[in-house]
Amino acid sequence: MKFRTGSGMTVSYDDAGAGSTLVFLHGFPLSREMWRPQIDALSRGFRVFAPDLRGFGGTTGFTETPSIEGMAEGVAQFLEALEITSPVALCGLSMGGYVALAFVRKYPQRVRALILADTRAEADDEAGKANRNKMMAFAKEHSAAAVIDQMMPKMFTDTTLSARPEIVAELRRIAAEQSVPAIVHAVQAMRDRPDSTPFLEAIAAPTLVIVGGEDAITPPAMSENLARRISGAKLVTIPGAGHMSNLERTSEFNEAIRSFLLSQS
Ligand code: MLT
Repeated sequence: MKFRTGSGMTVSYDDAGAGSTLVFLHGFPLSREMWRPQIDALSRGFRVFAPDLRGFGGTTGFTETPSIEGMAEGVAQFLEALEITSPVALCGLSMGGYVALAFVRKYPQRVRALILADTRAEADDEAGKANRNKMMAFAKEHSAAAVIDQMMPKMFTDTTLSARPEIVAELRRIAAEQSVPAIVHAVQAMRDRPDSTPFLEAIAAPTLVIVGGEDAITPPAMSENLARRISGAKLVTIPGAGHMSNLERTSEFNEAIRSFLLSQS
């Protein structure tokens, strides 16, 4: 589905199921399509929304200065356009987690539960920023497919990479369809995002932190840090999963969310 918000941005999104609202924010360099297994399973029990973030999938609306906060504002505009005024459960994976953290910081009253998957609160260090600059140059020179090929060894566990070619191919397909301007915009936004660590203790929403036990991009120690600093947060580590834990260990991932949300209602 596509929707034009009041600010002129067109947002493409999935909307499935009925019940209390659960919003999924995708990782980089992907689209809402990465949430297919969650939309299928969790729309039995929840009203699930999965928008494409700025520039990805069918969503337009780059901000002049790329920022994670700008992406969070886009999510708020999307919810307003759909007249979703009650607080939502918000789940972000990796870059989607950065956006979820920016959203809860800016609009705390709009979040009834927070799920942070395979993400982190820390800003990029100098080496991380230099890598972002290299990636922007690489993307401009090559293609979205080349970007995901470069990232792929860290997206899944070695076992998945060698034994489950279908999910590797699916992730590659989703990423290869994204536009280079969207990739460059998002990389710059991630490079310049602020450190969210000082704000973690102000989060009042019940929070679940999920991490693949073999996540090589946002390793478990980062999730442990998140869970330690957010009051009352619950940490679920999924063995045998890497960065894309929602795709690698779908039933464990979905079950963690379902039981967490049911325990809140
Ligand atoms: C993601 O999976 O969204 C990104 O790899 C996060 C990042 O590069 O910091």
